[in-house]
Amino acid sequence: MISCCIFDLDGVLVDTAKYHYLAWAALARELGFDFTPEQGEATKGVSRMASLDIVLRAGGMENRFTPEEKERLAAGKNARYLEYITRMTADEVLPGVLPFLQELRAAGIKVVLGSASKNAGVILDRCGLRPLFDHIVDGTLVSKAKPDPEVFAKGAELAGMPPAVCVVFEDAAAGVEAAARAGMRSVGVGGSPLLDKASMQLPTFEGFTFEKLCNQID
Ligand code: BG6
Ligand code: MG
Repeated sequence: MISCCIFDLDGVLVDTAKYHYLAWAALARELGFDFTPEQGEATKGVSRMASLDIVLRAGGMENRFTPEEKERLAAGKNARYLEYITRMTADEVLPGVLPFLQELRAAGIKVVLGSASKNAGVILDRCGLRPLFDHIVDGTLVSKAKPDPEVFAKGAELAGMPPAVCVVFEDAAAGVEAAARAGMRSVGVGGSPLLDKASMQLPTFEGFTFEKLCNQID
């Protein structure tokens, strides 16, 4: 049985992964090295400061900065990221997402956000998604980053649902692992081979329905 669907935001409902990458790559360029899209994959789903460590490691600079300097670097990246996301519109919601969320709500399934991002609220408002969620758990509410299960456990708790009836939608390996550690099934969104531990794969939400979810995962 499925009574609650918990959605990651970046890379699942909206394609903000490209904005995160552009902002990290710009920071790397300022520091004098290239940060490739392949290296950027490892920042998906992980917290801002953990992502900064990944970027610095790619440039061989992991030990160069004090904690205060690292806070400043992360703030600079976030300022650049905000320039992108404060210009987003509802057109950037990924294909098939809206009808699927609307179908879940009409069927009485709890719809919950489980995102590591502290910027989730800005994106939900810019894209008109906020009214579609029963509960929102974002990076301002959790202290442990994925693959820790905290973000999804908190979402299920707010919805009053046991993990066994929850399904997590994720585009990042860290998120699929977090779902498993929370005792939940997961849908790997976007078709990356890194998501092979998910309970099922979903290349796109286009044409996806609750019935198909139940048939494939239950
Ligand atoms: C996740 C993204 O959703 O949020 C990561 O996949 C990002 O790439 C993390 O680092 C934290 O986001 P923010 O917006 O708080 O810097
Ligand atoms: Mg994601």
